[in-house]
Amino acid sequence: MTATDARTSYDVRELRRAFPGVDPDLARFDGPGGSLVPEVVADAVAGMLRAGVCQRGGPTAVGRLADDTVLAARAAIARHVGLSDPRSVVFGRSMTAVTFDMARTLSREWGPGDEVVVSRLDHDSNIRPWVVAAERAGATVRWLGFDPVTAELDDVRPLLTDRTRLVAVTAASNLFGTRPDVAGVAAKAHEVGALVYVDAVHLAAHVPVDLGALGADLLACSPYKFFGPHLGAVAADPALLERQRPDKLLPSSDAVPERFELGTLPYELLAGVTAAVEFAEDWGMAAVAAHERALLDHLLDGLGRIGRVTVHGRPARRTPTVLVNVDGLEPGVVSERLAARGVAAPAGSFYALEASRHAGLGDAGGVRIGLAAYTTADEVDRLLTALDAVAGE
Ligand SMILES: Cc1ncc(COP(=O)(O)O)c(C=O)c1O
Repeated sequence: MTATDARTSYDVRELRRAFPGVDPDLARFDGPGGSLVPEVVADAVAGMLRAGVCQRGGPTAVGRLADDTVLAARAAIARHVGLSDPRSVVFGRSMTAVTFDMARTLSREWGPGDEVVVSRLDHDSNIRPWVVAAERAGATVRWLGFDPVTAELDDVRPLLTDRTRLVAVTAASNLFGTRPDVAGVAAKAHEVGALVYVDAVHLAAHVPVDLGALGADLLACSPYKFFGPHLGAVAADPALLERQRPDKLLPSSDAVPERFELGTLPYELLAGVTAAVEFAEDWGMAAVAAHERALLDHLLDGLGRIGRVTVHGRPARRTPTVLVNVDGLEPGVVSERLAARGVAAPAGSFYALEASRHAGLGDAGGVRIGLAAYTTADEVDRLLTALDAVAGE
């Protein structure tokens, strides 16, 4: 099924039946940490494990199956981020791992005097790999800030020079839900000839993603945030990948994207990736976005009515991920008390440590309420009731 075949109606009760992890006794708001997985994805993973696949290629049917599995997963991720060429997609163990790999590779040409821009709004996986790589190369790191109250990203322009080699920026904050104007950042970065590395891990679970429209040169995502297994991927124009010389083994393929992929790929997980993207296509990411948008309005409205609760950030364009705190209570305590009431909303900074500190929330962060494709209005009501009770204690 392709994106154009997407359903015409969005019945969340029907969608929920596809997820074996749905538990009527636990309202889940922990999706930004990893979404629930549909049965078809679990079946695809198990099916591939049962298929007797050994390695790619060779004269056997299982060798061809391994090949087909890799190509299908690449094609699936390419579609999920608005591309068509499967050669655009590199898989790795996690977004963090592929980003460290990419940073090591891209920084080979950096030296003293070169500059790299990272944003404080980002998850650390789109900060630290660049900081470490810049330090090794003797390059300078420039920090892009954000408004601690609104959680809107500052203007990147004052940080850019003709020595800027790369700008790393998030397409959506996993802490505040902010969706910065990535296309605007990219346009300015491109004016000075910098590459733009976009973290779309959080965004790709909530809206249709289009690498070209975002202006990304490289775009990273993690299938486990949108119905899939635990893997990371980075997408880029194959011509850009062709120009890079990653560390690789001598006998391993020098083709793109194989030259970036270290060792044997997890075929069973790749089968799950394809199934996950097909599931997203079946339901339609635009329909998911509309469903979540309606629930978000309901959630924000309800949160505004509860005394002692602070909602952090008020970005104009956002995902349905909301960070809150209850006056006088540690986030971890709030999270525990919600769990005791059948509501899963974790506490912390969620590796967006710079963001949490910059917003004055220290290392403790807040309680994160993440809406997902499978969230119901009833669950939002349960959360609001539980939070009201916790705040009133
Ligand atoms: C916005 C964002 N970027 C990056 C990551 C890291 O992804 P991975 O676990 O695949 O390394 C996460 C994980 O929570 C995330 O939310």
